[in-house]
Amino acid sequence: MRFRFPGGSRPSANGHLDGRDPRAPLGGPHQQNGANGSAVRQPLPDEIVVLQDVRKSFGDQEVLKGINLVARRRETTVIIGGSGAGKTTLLRLIVALERATSGHIFIDGEDITRLSDRELNRVRKKFGMVYQYAALLDSITVFDNVAFPLVEHTKLSKKEIRERVMNKLEILGLDPKVVASKYPSELSGGMRKRVGLARALMLEPPILVYDEPTSGLDPLTSRLVDDLIEEMRQRFGVTSIVISHDIASCFRIAHQAVLLIKGRVEACGPPDELLAGPSEIAREFIRNSGVDVASVGRVAR
Ligand SMILES: Nc1ncnc2c1ncn2[C@@H]1O[C@H](COP(=O)(O)OP(=O)(O)OP(=O)(O)O)[C@@H](O)[C@H]1O
Ligand SMILES: [Mg+2]
Repeated sequence: MRFRFPGGSRPSANGHLDGRDPRAPLGGPHQQNGANGSAVRQPLPDEIVVLQDVRKSFGDQEVLKGINLVARRRETTVIIGGSGAGKTTLLRLIVALERATSGHIFIDGEDITRLSDRELNRVRKKFGMVYQYAALLDSITVFDNVAFPLVEHTKLSKKEIRERVMNKLEILGLDPKVVASKYPSELSGGMRKRVGLARALMLEPPILVYDEPTSGLDPLTSRLVDDLIEEMRQRFGVTSIVISHDIASCFRIAHQAVLLIKGRVEACGPPDELLAGPSEIAREFIRNSGVDVASVGRVAR
């Protein structure tokens, strides 16, 4: 299976497009001025999702208070933080389901805060969404659930759709002949998660976003979901953005962890660095989870 890289920005084998160091510090020669005169930095090719001073208010409640964030291609970014910190809101801004009040959001190099509603539809297709409880439609079969994005967004023939659905189910470790005709309620939590993932992958998006993929699952199934997230990255080169309450999961899969506290990024970096970093709040947040992070097996490479 081949994943598309919209905008033609397929990275070369070493992940760099043009020899520039994608980990170069902010600033440099790519700055321009934004509408309000503040400096806007054009993302580097490796930076698939970039937020610059993003704010979001609902009425007079400011939920996101100047978020800066960079997610790199083919890496897993895990957003952690307490209830009500603004994690889901942040995710909804990134996948263009909601508009920022101010600031800039670059997806694949394109500032989506400047786009029309119609253009945002195009941006949304770059994301596959995996929801908390897989969010499958219970009244239709697994086959129809997984086929849904193809039926909605493509003009493929019935035969082609069938081939792709069966192929995706198989890739995700489900026996297509057994599972396709079942209803979601007949599956275990882990299997439903796989079906949700198959559906999210149907349009072969370069970015997968997950809102609480392991919540409500037992520890064993949670670990399987973590393995699956990492497998998607390694097999298909997708970038993953994951919201999680699960610190063990964060340490297993994250290249970068982002701790959101009351609408602000409190700390950001590899999970081990958060644990040893300068933010007492971050260290306490991890300690308070009660997870023995030293014994958590890392799956991210
Ligand atoms: N559409 C909306 N209208 C008004 N307020 C909203 C809306 N969406 C979110 N909020 C508010 O924004 C704040 C952050 O909510 P959000 O759902 O982003 O938090 P969260 O970090 O995802 O929390 P949880 O861990 O419980 O899922 C909350 O106070 C919430 O009430
Ligand atoms: Mg949430």
